[in-house]
Amino acid sequence: MPQLARRVGRAKPSAIMVVAEKAKRLKAEGRDIISFSIGVPNFLPGPHVYDAVREALNKDSGQYGSNRGADALLDAFMKHMEAIGLTGYTRANIATGIGAKHVIYNLAEVLLDEGDTIAFPTPYWTSYLDIAEIVDAKIDLLPCPPEQDYKLTPAQLDAALAKKPKVFLFNNPSNPTGMVYTKDEIAALADVVAKHPDTWIITDDIYNRMVFDGIGYHNFVQFRPELRDRTIFLDSLSKTYGMPGWRVGFMAGPEAVAAAVVTMNSNHITNIPELTTAAAIAALTGPQDVPTQKNAEFQAKRDQVMATFAAIPGIVCPKPQGAFYVFPDVSAYFGKTHGPTGLAIANDVDLCNALLDAKGVACVPGSAFGEPRALRISYTCPTPQLAPGLARIQEFFAELH
Ligand SMILES: Cc1ncc(COP(=O)(O)O)c(C=O)c1O
Repeated sequence: MPQLARRVGRAKPSAIMVVAEKAKRLKAEGRDIISFSIGVPNFLPGPHVYDAVREALNKDSGQYGSNRGADALLDAFMKHMEAIGLTGYTRANIATGIGAKHVIYNLAEVLLDEGDTIAFPTPYWTSYLDIAEIVDAKIDLLPCPPEQDYKLTPAQLDAALAKKPKVFLFNNPSNPTGMVYTKDEIAALADVVAKHPDTWIITDDIYNRMVFDGIGYHNFVQFRPELRDRTIFLDSLSKTYGMPGWRVGFMAGPEAVAAAVVTMNSNHITNIPELTTAAAIAALTGPQDVPTQKNAEFQAKRDQVMATFAAIPGIVCPKPQGAFYVFPDVSAYFGKTHGPTGLAIANDVDLCNALLDAKGVACVPGSAFGEPRALRISYTCPTPQLAPGLARIQEFFAELH
């Protein structure tokens, strides 16, 4: 048989899905499973989104669309950006994709030649590593442990950019930690970025509408407008609007980068489908009560999860201020055994497996995100499941000796 391309050997299925699949299998076998594993928002968009799709269906042109995205969609996205303080972009600065993941993949193709370096903080969203490996980039991981609240410091960034990576990829609010950089922290990092002109900056800020405690969302270009020439902002409908399956992602950045992404689109997807476009425009321009209400709900759920971990001795859990994740450092429990089942816990993977087997609670091991001391809880489950799920977690840790 002929060989597959070498890059396939570097491509891995997402580690997050491995846990989710096991949880699904146990559920199918009749186990009572509470899933804190996949990063899905678990709500549906407002009725106006469905109305817009029905209307578009009646008028369906059946034609190919724009490789960049329909003008009305680009305009709706620019308005959405303006509302979070990102102004001065034109259609030529924007490109769309089948979800932000697809836009990131396109950007990797567009910005990185084989052997070029991409730097990003650890913990990281798993796909950053996987995509960088597929395009055969060198990866410079910048460790941000729980002791520094999982956040990158200006000194760390300065040292990383002094090595002139081709791309620096930044994620705020963060998946998997839920941490959000304050206005001052972003301003300080922007000052550092401005000193190093040889690096493209990608800010994956798809959780920008999910920020708690009134701290707001901030971007480097707001403090250093000159960074617009090499900063690419990413956004998505998936989380904010409860539309992960609709697959709409965006980038806003220099015209040359947007044009290159559009060329990539023309060579594989051609365009975002017409019906999806109608849904996206309605979500971006219609009533914003669903995202607003969900943000409040997630903040309350965050508090509930934090209260649980605060009550478990030995767990260190920096307080997230956005997205819908909590990322506790559970390493104090490595080397222990789960009393009732006799399962030994050597590391994060053992711990997540034992928690799933013993209590039917699915979380993702931190090693999937480059931080093996932690585990990720995604707390968007139906509200009635949250308290029992957390009680089971508390019970589980009390049974480790
Ligand atoms: C940080 C981050 N970036 C990008 C994505 C991809 O989002 P999309 O559904 O738009 O592809 C995710 C999804 O989990 C994410 O957490």
